Amino acid sequence: MSDFGSLPGFRDFYPEDLERRTRIFAAWREASRRFGFREFDGPPLEPLDLYTGKSGEEIVRQLYAFTDKGGREVALRPEMTPSFARMVSARAGALRKPIRWFAIPQLFRYERAQRGRLREHFQWNVDLVGEADVTADAEVIAVALTGLGLLGLGADAIVARVSDRRLLEALLGGLGIGAEGLAAAYAAIDKLEREGADATAERLVEHAGLSAGAAADLLGALGSDTPAALADAAGGGEVAARAADLERYLDTLDALGLRDRVAFDASIVRGLAYYTGIVFEIFDRAGELRAVCGGGRYDGLLAQLGGPDLPALGFGMGDVVLGELLADRGAEEGAAGAVDDHIVIVSEEQRPLALRVAAALRVAGRSVTYPLHETGVGRQFKDANAAGAERAVVLGPDEVAEGVAVVKDMRSGAESRVPLEELTRAEENPGADGDGG
Ligand code: HAM
Repeated sequence: MSDFGSLPGFRDFYPEDLERRTRIFAAWREASRRFGFREFDGPPLEPLDLYTGKSGEEIVRQLYAFTDKGGREVALRPEMTPSFARMVSARAGALRKPIRWFAIPQLFRYERAQRGRLREHFQWNVDLVGEADVTADAEVIAVALTGLGLLGLGADAIVARVSDRRLLEALLGGLGIGAEGLAAAYAAIDKLEREGADATAERLVEHAGLSAGAAADLLGALGSDTPAALADAAGGGEVAARAADLERYLDTLDALGLRDRVAFDASIVRGLAYYTGIVFEIFDRAGELRAVCGGGRYDGLLAQLGGPDLPALGFGMGDVVLGELLADRGAEEGAAGAVDDHIVIVSEEQRPLALRVAAALRVAGRSVTYPLHETGVGRQFKDANAAGAERAVVLGPDEVAEGVAVVKDMRSGAESRVPLEELTRAEENPGADGDGG
C-alpha cells in the first residue's frame, strides 16, 4: 500500500470505474438530447458569496472554501444551479426561450461520509428557463426519468416523489404559520422520512411554533395519497388551487407515459433554500438508498442574482447513488475494455508488417494491440485472450510469403486466410464505433 491514499470521500477512477461513469454520462447526454437540451459548463471555483444566502444552510456548512492568494473568498462549487443562474442571467436577453441547457459538473461538499454520499460527485443538471406552466415541470422530470430508463431503471426500480412548496406553504398558512416559521417548518418536514413522525411533530412545535394539535393535523394531511385528497382534507382555498395544478402536472406525465414512476408525496420539500414551486426527489423503489435525484422550480433565483425575473426549474442527479443502484441490479456490462484485434508476430521479421497492419486497422476504426517486444507465440495467444480480442491476426513467415495472414476468430476458433493487401489497405470507416465489424 502506498503512503499516499486519496482523501476521504474522493475517488480514484480505475479504467473499469471510469467505463461505468462514461456509460452513465452517455445515458445522461442521450436523454438530454432527446428533449432538446444543450450542454454547457462553468468554472469549478466560484466566489464564495454565490452560495451564501442562496443555497441554504446545509450546503453552506459543507463548502470547501478558502481565501485565494489575491485575498478573494472562494469556494469549490457544491452545486451547479447558482453558476447556471448567473450564466443565463448574463445573456438572458439574447437567449431564445425557453432556455434548455444541461451540464455534468463535478461538485464538492464536505459531507459526513455515508453510503451514497461522498465529498465529490458528478451531477447531471438539467434546467429550463422561461416557462411558468406545469408542462415545463413535467418536461423536466421526464428528462430525469428518461435518463434512468436508458440505464435500465424503470418503474420497478425507481419512484419520483413530487410535491409543491406552494401547496405546503398554503397548508402551513392555514395553520397560522407565517413567513418566519416557514423555513423551520420546511426543515422539520424535510427530515420526516429520516427521523419519523414523533421527532418531526416535536420539531414543528419547538421550532416552527405549531400547537401539538396543529402539528398532528399537518402530519395527517401530509399522508394524503393525491393532491385532491389533500385539498379535501385541508379545506379548499389556495391549497385547492395548488392541488389542481399538481393534478394537471400528473396528467401531463401520464400522457408522456411516465405516470407509473411518479407518486404524490406532500412531505417532499427539498433542503435547498431557493425552491418556489413543484419539487421532486427520485428514490430507489426499495427505499434503501439516499435520493438519486432532486430538483424543482426556483422562480426567484435569477432575479436574486441580479438577473431578469424569469421562471426557472431543473434537477440534479448524482453518479454515486446511481452507480450503487446499477451495481445492485447487476446492470453492469462485462467485457469492457476488450480490443478488437491482437496481432501475433511469429518472428521479428514480420514486425514492420505488423505495424502497417495495425495502422491500417486503426484507420478503419478497430482497436488493435500487438506485443511491444519479442514474445513467444503461445504467450501472444494468451495475451490475445486476456485482452478480450475478437480476432488474432497471425503474421507467420510462410503465410506472409504467400501474401496472406491467418485470422483466428477467438470465440469460435475458426481460422481464415485473409490477403495482406486487404489488411494493409488504410480506409477510413466512419461507421466504426469500436464494436468490431
Ligand atoms: P441536491 O439535492 O443537493 O440538489 O443534489 C442532487 C443530487 O445530487 C442528489 O439527489 C444526489 O444524487 C446527488 N448528491 C448530492 N450531494 C451528494 C454527495 N455528497 N455525494 C454524492 N451524491 C450527492 C442540487 O444540488 C440542486 N442544485 C439540483 C438542481 C438543479 N435543482 C435545480 N436545478
